[in-house]
Amino acid sequence: DWTPGEILAEQVAAIRAQIGDAKVLCGLSGGVDSAVAAALVHRAVGDQLTCVFVDHGLLRQGEREQVERDYVAATGIKLVTVDASERFLGALAGVSDPETKRKIIGREFIRVFEQAAADISEAEGGIRYLVQGTLYPDVVESGGGSGTATIKSHHNVGGLPEDMTFELVEPLRTLFKDEVRALGRTLGLPEAMVARHPFPGPGLGIRIIGDVTAERLETLRAADAIVREEMTAAGVDGMIWQCPVVLLADVRSVGVQGDGRSYGHPIVLRPVSSEDAMTADWTRLPDELLARISHRITGEVDEVNRVVLDITSKPPGTIEWE
Ligand code: XMP
Repeated sequence: DWTPGEILAEQVAAIRAQIGDAKVLCGLSGGVDSAVAAALVHRAVGDQLTCVFVDHGLLRQGEREQVERDYVAATGIKLVTVDASERFLGALAGVSDPETKRKIIGREFIRVFEQAAADISEAEGGIRYLVQGTLYPDVVESGGGSGTATIKSHHNVGGLPEDMTFELVEPLRTLFKDEVRALGRTLGLPEAMVARHPFPGPGLGIRIIGDVTAERLETLRAADAIVREEMTAAGVDGMIWQCPVVLLADVRSVGVQGDGRSYGHPIVLRPVSSEDAMTADWTRLPDELLARISHRITGEVDEVNRVVLDITSKPPGTIEWE
């Protein structure tokens, strides 16, 4: 068994040997894998690395700041943030079909990333390598191959244009998730980032049932922030795989709030326990925690007058609602 310190030393040497003095690009998603991969490459080759973070406007509260502020403070990484929220919201306007949303978000993401990569490459005098946070289970799943090949479509950087050929740097491809987390801690990354639950690339766009608008995003963001805050305070983060919070934007129900009748939207809590996201069970969270979350969301978030708990396993339900 290797210690994280040994893995770190070995990977730093391997990355230096591969990259030499060439320039490297890494797309950050806000997730653990790309954050650890980039920090590792930065440890090896410093400012030869530039990271790019696309804010598609479908992030949760505080996520962009976590990358721009905490992550940069912990690593010293050179980061370019692209604010593309208006572009994504524009492309998503009026769209409520789940697969169409996913396709639009994936397409726009590639376009924005491609433009950013071209801009950065020009500024840096050419970029030869692209860092990918591919883990061992991804390698096994996709049948092995390495090199300049296609990038798995379920990854956040959903595929790169054919005319932009990078060689891949995949420093995590022999590691499992728990080893990646340990490595992240050794690299000094913020705990909130290292311990983070999975979050889908299309973000809150697939957690609003109905079409995506700025107001609906604001509503969902506020409810989601309450859920995360209360779950962390109750110490249950380690007990769940993830907990999607979903806004049923096309549903309204009657309620009584304050002095009168309300006609607002439901928020769905979807806490799940899982080993690998292929199957999952709904997590039995403590009643008091659920009560507190419900009380706070209906009291603090405008437009929401009902909180419901999803008690479906996977299968038959998927973890996300879209
Ligand atoms: P489902 O909903 O299929 O989700 O049970 C399984 C796991 O995958 C995550 N997920 C995604 N992750 N891009 C991602 O990076 C995506 O498009 C995507 N869709 C679902 C989901 O959050 C869960 O962990």
